[in-house]
Amino acid sequence: MLKSATSEAIIDAAARLRRGECVAFPTETVYGLGADASNARAVAEIFAIKERPSFDPLIVHIADQAQVGGLAAAWPASAERLAAAFWPGPLTIVVAKRAEIDDIVTAGLPSVAIRVPDHPVALELIRLCDRPVAAPSANPFGYISPTRAEHVAAQLGDRVPLILDAGPCRCGVESTIVACDGDGAVLLRPGAVSLEQIETVIGPLAVAARDAPVQAPGQLASHYAPRIPLRLITTPAAVTLEERRTSALLTTAPVSDSTGFARAVALSATGDLGEAAAGLFAALRELDAVGLRRIYAIAPSDQGIGRAIADRLRRAAHR
Ligand code: TXA
Ligand code: MG
Repeated sequence: MLKSATSEAIIDAAARLRRGECVAFPTETVYGLGADASNARAVAEIFAIKERPSFDPLIVHIADQAQVGGLAAAWPASAERLAAAFWPGPLTIVVAKRAEIDDIVTAGLPSVAIRVPDHPVALELIRLCDRPVAAPSANPFGYISPTRAEHVAAQLGDRVPLILDAGPCRCGVESTIVACDGDGAVLLRPGAVSLEQIETVIGPLAVAARDAPVQAPGQLASHYAPRIPLRLITTPAAVTLEERRTSALLTTAPVSDSTGFARAVALSATGDLGEAAAGLFAALRELDAVGLRRIYAIAPSDQGIGRAIADRLRRAAHR
């Protein structure tokens, strides 16, 4: 059931979480599918609804940093500095976990991923639930993340008892994930907080290889993928006129030579990458649904939030 996120609906959602049900809720990045992180059966239901493989760990959402102590076995100085700079916000911090956290949440890893989302509905929900909330993005595994409540309803509506609707998500790409241990920090997933912003706070950061299997099992090469093939190009000239007739062109800014494509979507009229990120997943969903043969996309360079957009497009292109 899709419900506007009124205070009443949030109270209902929190009660459902405490009873062991799953609830979809908005964050500033994408919509999440939440369950009480301390209830292994409820967390198992998330994996069932998403058809998510159990080797892919979840992010645990908390309402404020005071809840870290119940989850983390260590809290290095780098984590402290990042939390102070970016929480609440689209940054997930991976640290050594406490033994009490069920293996189903962390996929058996010795670490746990934690974030304080910057969204009033998410924060109110977690506060009322009064427990950490485990939540992946609320999409079927491997598909495009939802940035509107309707995206969740369209795909998981019959399996999720309650979807809180608070309109479109502000960021549109998922949180940045950084692993912190005593020795330093590693960027596991580029996201809404840029690498440059993070480096201003803790200095130079190692970047995990894009297909690194160990640290971030969820970072599968093929992810965020529409059903029709997506191909990365650097110029529209790479696409023949014949192919254009049955294909879409997706870019972050308007490009010349976009004529002849069945659809041409520029995510920002001015090339603003924040605006492009916010509209990226909705555009991919839309282009996936209009009966075209293929999406050709031009990725931005790895700067600022462009790195997260390029990462999602690369994964969407991977077959
Ligand atoms: O913006 C977001 O982060 C959204 C909203 C709902 O908060 N959540 C999200 O969750 O994107 P999900 O499940 O789609 O991605 C979580 C990813 C996993 O796939 C994995 O790569 C990483 O977080 N992760 C979780 N726990 C980890 C751990 N202990 N070590 C390394 N990576 C971890
Ligand atoms: Mg996801």
